[in-house]
Amino acid sequence: DTKIEKTDEKRANFSGGLGYILAVAGSAVGLGNIWRFPYLAAKYGGGMFLLTYLILTLTFGYAMIMSETTIGRMTKRSAIGAFNHFGNSRILKIGGFINAIVPVLIVPYYSVIGGWVVKYLVEYIKGNVDGLAADGYFGGFIGDTKVVFFWFVIFALATFVVILGGVEQGIERVSKIMMPLLIILAIVVALYSVTRPGAMAGVKYFFVPNFHNFSLMTVVAALGQMFYSLSIAMGILYTYGSYLTKDVDVEISTSRVEMVDTGVAVLAGLMVIPAVFAFSGGDPDKLKAGPSLMFITLPKVFESMGAGRIAGIGFFLLVLLAALTSAISLVETSISTFCDELNLSRNKSVILMAFIMVFVGGSSAAGYGVLDFVKIFKMPVLDFLDFLTNSIMMPIAALATCYLVVRIITLKKIDEEISYSSAFKRKRMYNIVMRVFAPVFLIIILVSAILNTL
Ligand code: PFF
Repeated sequence: DTKIEKTDEKRANFSGGLGYILAVAGSAVGLGNIWRFPYLAAKYGGGMFLLTYLILTLTFGYAMIMSETTIGRMTKRSAIGAFNHFGNSRILKIGGFINAIVPVLIVPYYSVIGGWVVKYLVEYIKGNVDGLAADGYFGGFIGDTKVVFFWFVIFALATFVVILGGVEQGIERVSKIMMPLLIILAIVVALYSVTRPGAMAGVKYFFVPNFHNFSLMTVVAALGQMFYSLSIAMGILYTYGSYLTKDVDVEISTSRVEMVDTGVAVLAGLMVIPAVFAFSGGDPDKLKAGPSLMFITLPKVFESMGAGRIAGIGFFLLVLLAALTSAISLVETSISTFCDELNLSRNKSVILMAFIMVFVGGSSAAGYGVLDFVKIFKMPVLDFLDFLTNSIMMPIAALATCYLVVRIITLKKIDEEISYSSAFKRKRMYNIVMRVFAPVFLIIILVSAILNTL
């Protein structure tokens, strides 16, 4: 029975370790890995960015995943219920709420970008390689609200179909098929990219750290990316942890999830950065393209390389699979929150989520078109939602988790929960991160984000 109810016996469960790992990896591996990671790595110092990112993931990221999953499993509740389980002070209320609301705000605009991906895939299937590479194509497309809305709805519908299947039958089954397929496709496209003439310079730029490229921005960007990519501080891991049985070794599954997530990000870097080098000879302007790297620069690269249609189909299919499994996790988390906190049935929660999707996603979809006069802090709706969630709310949500772990639950109790399956091996590192390293870094990103918008 996959129906999620308040009683623990009836709560949905993952069938075991592998299903859980694939579902969390499915959540983690998404647009963040394939769209965001390569453009940040290209912009913020190549190998230096990669090194910084790896260090942060193995320390900070590891501790955050462990915390959220463990608290979810301990309380058998999604974020709000988990925080309230330990008392009803105002800080705990806000902490739970902010963790829980992030996915509700993210998934509508995430699905708009998912819709862009479906559109590009369809165009490559049709063989429109030159059209996609033409100057102004992307800008023209996202300005056409009706078309963007249509593809957004297609993407969102696909997500909901899986969700309606429930946890084991839906999420787990789809992850078990999509994730291996995604990894094989990623390897094929990366191999193609690194074997283009002139691509090796790109491989070197991406892998070899050059200390001249290091700056505070390298750390800030890598840290933000780590949150985004690992699905931390958005309630997801509380919810998924709550579906986890006590016999699963949380440390091992965390390491595996990190390996898959980082592996796909590195493969995506190998798909994109060497291809851009082969195309432009490492022109810094092309490398610094930012968010448009995937939708504007890459189609030009594919067009120039020959076999652009196949490369385009392979690449965008890959991005689509990744985006779908992530969107599924975001919707599932939101629905689980509605079930737990509003006492709604699963079906009613799905309907409520669908309304939010259409309304918030619709506004994001229209933000570059018919609603382009709407600017919040000078940003279009989609950019604003992305900024609000990733730069402001997620650091606060993570700070709340640190507070909950260190001050309320205590590190000793966390250790006990983790040790159900086997001894807590990286306990020393975990404790230092949660006590010192995480709070200090979180305050740095929060302040730098606020200063950047002023
Ligand atoms: N971690 C996933 C990704 O990297 O795309 C999904 C995701 C969820 C990304 C939430 C960003 C986000 F804010």
